[in-house]
Amino acid sequence: MKKGRYVVLASGRGSNFQAILDRTRDGYIPAECAALITDNPGAKAIFRAQDAGVPVDVVDYRAYPDKTRYEKALITAISRYSPDLVILAGYMRLLGDRIVDEFSGRMMNIHPSLLPAFPGLHAQRQALEYGTKVAGCTVHFVTKDMDAGPVIIQRTVPVLDDDDEDSLAERILTEEHQAFPESVRLFFEGRIRLSGRKVRILS
Ligand code: GRF
Repeated sequence: MKKGRYVVLASGRGSNFQAILDRTRDGYIPAECAALITDNPGAKAIFRAQDAGVPVDVVDYRAYPDKTRYEKALITAISRYSPDLVILAGYMRLLGDRIVDEFSGRMMNIHPSLLPAFPGLHAQRQALEYGTKVAGCTVHFVTKDMDAGPVIIQRTVPVLDDDDEDSLAERILTEEHQAFPESVRLFFEGRIRLSGRKVRILS
């Protein structure tokens, strides 16, 4: 059987990208990483792709006159690799309706909070400022509303009295590196059923 393919979009450090790459290489994810696409020519994720022999496309926002044309170029870049799944792993740009429609039900994102709590930027800071006792991460399908798509997996961590943003972010990141590869694996095993905004995981 032909192996499934995914493309990763990342803008920066790329530690989630690395976790997914590692779990692909060891066979846990039964698919192939077709490419890394980044909007940031300085992204550390680029070195990770190069180390793994994964093709890199830079689609730099600044090279396009407006968002519509940028997104058209992004759709073209992604489609060139015919991916079954598009993975947003720290991709820092809001995607428009067209691209979200194009990859509906096959685009995943990770967010460092237990959604629907604390969407948007600085989720860990928001959790600390609110004073929650539990925090975590969410992998979800991408829809037109930011950080509001159907939830695939969530993992929790405690918030400790002496946490600052960095210590909490680090504890959550460890869980992200489990939750994201697991979600990708479930997708390629065909074990995710999406019905409205609910995700059921087949055993
Ligand atoms: C992660 O915390 C992720 O949840 C958020 O952006 C961060 C990306 O980190 N969307 P990295 O680039 O994967 O290391």
